[in-house]
Amino acid sequence: MSHHIYIPILIISTLLSFTSARTTVFINESTPILLLPSSSSAVGEMSGSCPSPDPRLNYRPTIGIVSHPGDGASGRLSNATNASYIAASYVKFVESAGARVVPIIYNEPVEIIQTKLNLVNGVLFTGGWSKTGLYFDVIEEVFNQVLKKNDAGEHFPLLAICLGFELVTMIVSKNNNILEAFSASDQASTLQFMNNINIEETVFQRFPPELVAKLSTECLVMQNHKYGISPETFQKTKELCSFFKVLTTSTDENNKVYVSTAQSERYPVTAVQWHPEKNAFEWGSSVIPHSDNAIQVTQHVANYFVSEARKSFNRPPNDEVLKNLIYNYSPTYCGTAGKGYDEVYIFTDNEKMARL
Ligand SMILES: *[C@@H]1O[C@H](CO)[C@@H](O)[C@H](O)[C@H]1NC(C)=O
Ligand SMILES: *[C@@H]1O[C@H](CO)[C@@H](O)[C@H](O)[C@H]1NC(C)=O
Ligand SMILES: *[C@@H]1O[C@H](CO)[C@@H](O)[C@H](O)[C@H]1NC(C)=O
Repeated sequence: MSHHIYIPILIISTLLSFTSARTTVFINESTPILLLPSSSSAVGEMSGSCPSPDPRLNYRPTIGIVSHPGDGASGRLSNATNASYIAASYVKFVESAGARVVPIIYNEPVEIIQTKLNLVNGVLFTGGWSKTGLYFDVIEEVFNQVLKKNDAGEHFPLLAICLGFELVTMIVSKNNNILEAFSASDQASTLQFMNNINIEETVFQRFPPELVAKLSTECLVMQNHKYGISPETFQKTKELCSFFKVLTTSTDENNKVYVSTAQSERYPVTAVQWHPEKNAFEWGSSVIPHSDNAIQVTQHVANYFVSEARKSFNRPPNDEVLKNLIYNYSPTYCGTAGKGYDEVYIFTDNEKMARL
């Protein structure tokens, strides 16, 4: 360890004494670590000028997350008829990559949902169980808005996780019975990449090659679903394979194969049947992978998604954003209520009233 401590001291003292001479500094006799002073980037960094930000990118992105019916803990935390929730792990996931969150409360009036969509730079659909009624209709409407914004020239990404994957599959295929039964409740799994897949410009683009390789041999992703779609059904459904490219499949407890990652080539829309947010932020199941590699999976997916949101030009008035951020709500710890989530944001009419 001790030689690491000397290196910065060496760099600083060398800089002090040699800044005006063209000098090469070596860690040891053979390895140059710093070139001074001409074309080296180390000198540029030391001069105190920061490169100007890329004007094509939005460095203050916000993400809308659609709430799911219920309290996330089967009535243990709230029995309010209109309660809906967002597990805090999705919020932390987005925040960890440098974006803020606006909750899109699914049973708010349509005009408010519309207003909130104009405050964000991308949308996340969470896991859950609801596939019918108002929730389905709202997800369908938001999905169509995402496509519309992109068609109008705005880069507006969507990340659909677990239930989100299933709902998007139903919406794109225009077939609400397209899903099949799978046994992948509370299961860590691998991801098997399709043959000859190019991961450039996909959710896996930022993964180091070693991590991509490990995804197919180590159980680095968390599954928790009873439905899914087989690659066969996917490929024979024209609407699905013209919209999505299948990137990976996974195998359930009965060795049945299902599509686990799909990405649109035309839109910045990514659907994952697995839970990238859980590895770093959920502890309720002993099966959730928490290894160094598993945490990197969470981080790379979050970084990919938020980097897509930075390409959105939407820059709404700051005070409108502030009024709607998730920071206006407090999460409830529910690890002791024992329902899989550690923390949830619960939205009820009462809370909405309290904010007015
Ligand atoms: C200097 O660094 C090089 C490359 O890191 C290494 O191969 C070499 O063994 C080092 N030499 C000494 C004397 O530590
Ligand atoms: C919700 O209702 C159930 C069943 O009546 C009850 O056991 C539970 O304590 C209630 N939860 C809350 C937070 O009041
Ligand atoms: C549920 O919420 C909607 C919209 O906020 C409201 O119109 C309705 O009255 C609420 N119902 C109950 C039972 O609170």
